[in-house]
Amino acid sequence: MAQFKRTLVTTALPYANGPVHLGHLAGVYLPADLYVRHKRLKGEEVLHIGGSDEHGVPITITAEKEGVTPADVVERYHRMNLEAFTRCGISFDCYGRTSSERHHETAQEFFVELERKGIFTRRTEKQFYDAASGRFLSDRYVVGTCPICGSPEASGDQCEQCGTHLSPTELIEPKSKLSMATPELRDTLHWYFPLGRFQEALEAFVSSHEDDWRPNVLNYTRTWLNAGLNDRAITRDLGWGIRVPLDEAEAAGKVLYVWFDAVLGYISFTREWAEREGDRELWRHWWQDPETRLVQFIGKDNVVFHTLMLPAILMGWNEGRSEGRYNLVDNVPASEFMNFEGRKFSKSRNYAVYLGEFLQKFPADTLRYSIAMNYPENKDSDFSWTDFQNRTNGELADTLGNFIKRSVDFTNSRFEGQVPHQCTIEEWEGIGVDWYALQSQLDSAYEGFHFREAATISMDVARAANRFLTAAEPWKAIKSDPDAAARTMALSLNLCHALSILFYPVIPETCDRIHRMLGFKGGVDGLVRKGEPILGTLLEPALSKGHPLSGESEILFTKIEDKEIEPELRKIEALVREAEAREAGATEQKMQFKPTIEFDDFQKVDLRAATVTAAEKVKKASKLLKLQVQVGSSTRQVLAGVAEHYAPEEMVGRNVLLVANLAPRTIRGEVSEGMLLAVEGEGGRLYMVEPQGEKINGQSVQ
Ligand code: 2FM
Ligand code: ZN
Repeated sequence: MAQFKRTLVTTALPYANGPVHLGHLAGVYLPADLYVRHKRLKGEEVLHIGGSDEHGVPITITAEKEGVTPADVVERYHRMNLEAFTRCGISFDCYGRTSSERHHETAQEFFVELERKGIFTRRTEKQFYDAASGRFLSDRYVVGTCPICGSPEASGDQCEQCGTHLSPTELIEPKSKLSMATPELRDTLHWYFPLGRFQEALEAFVSSHEDDWRPNVLNYTRTWLNAGLNDRAITRDLGWGIRVPLDEAEAAGKVLYVWFDAVLGYISFTREWAEREGDRELWRHWWQDPETRLVQFIGKDNVVFHTLMLPAILMGWNEGRSEGRYNLVDNVPASEFMNFEGRKFSKSRNYAVYLGEFLQKFPADTLRYSIAMNYPENKDSDFSWTDFQNRTNGELADTLGNFIKRSVDFTNSRFEGQVPHQCTIEEWEGIGVDWYALQSQLDSAYEGFHFREAATISMDVARAANRFLTAAEPWKAIKSDPDAAARTMALSLNLCHALSILFYPVIPETCDRIHRMLGFKGGVDGLVRKGEPILGTLLEPALSKGHPLSGESEILFTKIEDKEIEPELRKIEALVREAEAREAGATEQKMQFKPTIEFDDFQKVDLRAATVTAAEKVKKASKLLKLQVQVGSSTRQVLAGVAEHYAPEEMVGRNVLLVANLAPRTIRGEVSEGMLLAVEGEGGRLYMVEPQGEKINGQSVQ
């Protein structure tokens, strides 16, 4: 691995349209903070940049739902999230907002540069327009009937019912979400970023990280590369966002696509940080000095925006330049998801524990530890209240807290609150902890993004410390061998000091308290100096004979009683019941029969027995199969949303029921001439309706 002088750490910008929950904390913000704090302990130069993503349709939809302006929404949630992160000890150097002037300017600067180089392409395309509201409608503003499963509530980007990704023009009977009027298709001009132009360069870039990126990150990225990169529209017709910086005649009413602007937020926020530091050019060290390492913490749903989109934009910027070139990302430690009591966190269903609310009830460090121990590194993990209670009580309170308190209290009462002995290196090394090995194990755990392992290593030292103190029994030795008791206590106090450093990334506030109990004025933060690796000081005992403690002693962790957890458990039960009722309600709703029709109406539907003769998957449509269906003497193409339930080869040879006179539709660029009937079973499993009998092909249903 190349040697770097400094590390720039960024964390995904959460949409400022809702409060962040524990899932966000576990996947992105806590791991980044652990990494950053570890680097600070090593005396390395590191900068942590984050902020709010304040543009895009998610924000405008929330604003419309609440009947307020998008600016109101982002103001409220930016503040709320920043406050929650601060209380949780997430140590950002800058937490910006994409609505800031500097960010608008930066994103526009990139657009202008790429436009100047002729990198963008322009396309006039047909898009739905709501004449009643005078607005073009982005995908999520169009609703209608799903062409695949017939659900009447599909949205223009996706059908919730069957999960198929759609485009608005694929919907049957599309309606505007704004006015419920039928929208009309109108011409509109958009700018496209040609990702495909960078295909080769991106492939080479990704291959250069084959050995250091996580398998999930490589997999998601390669799936895109293998499918071939396409042009991506980077402008939208929307009233909220960053204006396209071209003359009004062609760009009126157009804003940059939220993802194009959001990924550039990392750069603009670094600029804002530099300005606050009083050196406007300082940001260049962090983005343009090849000796700076860029590490971007994100959730698995954001991978390609960081491994392909941002690198391609920066490659576009760098083209033809010898100076002012941006660094590309070095690592993208994308996490899996953390579930909550066995179910997925869901903001829309309110199935979540929000960070701010949590911190009103429990201390940040108990949460940080518990989440670090459940870090979803290579598979989804789970947060449960019982696990949180057990870790707090058993590990933090009984193991770590108890050891510190026993050591400090005994010293205060029996040795006048001073370190009673000068420990030698031999004594320190004889304690049962291999300090050399520990340092390198801990360092590889943090540097390899194995945060669960790092927290475990630190807790193992606390366990060893407890064992040491319990076995030495200074409360007995104080009578028979006071020197031995003094030696034990001096070593224990040095262990307290070591623990306050080892645990600093995970539970920083507690470590500061330990430090103060040990008689230091500032917290551990106060020790952190560029170029001075504090971890190295653990090789020797740090507290000399006579060092005075503060004389204070506190309980570091209060045990969580069952009665504190019970209301939380009941809340989850209620949420689960609600979710189940909703699911059952949805089934019941399906049982409500459609309005009665006349026999003549039914007769209009031409239902035929047909046979599938060929089947293949449809590129970039994970739910769709493209089928060739023989009906009597003719063969036709039908798209069916069953790819998750039937492999193509399983479909061939099946008798199916075809709605033969449905008007043809184009889905994903493929024509579908008819619809196959299927029934939904448990868990959303689809079963084809398969008529049985001799020589039935082409026959109509009687
Ligand atoms: O998924 C999200 O919440 C996005 N707002 C993440 C953006 S990350 C980056 F591009 F800024
Ligand atoms: Zn559907």
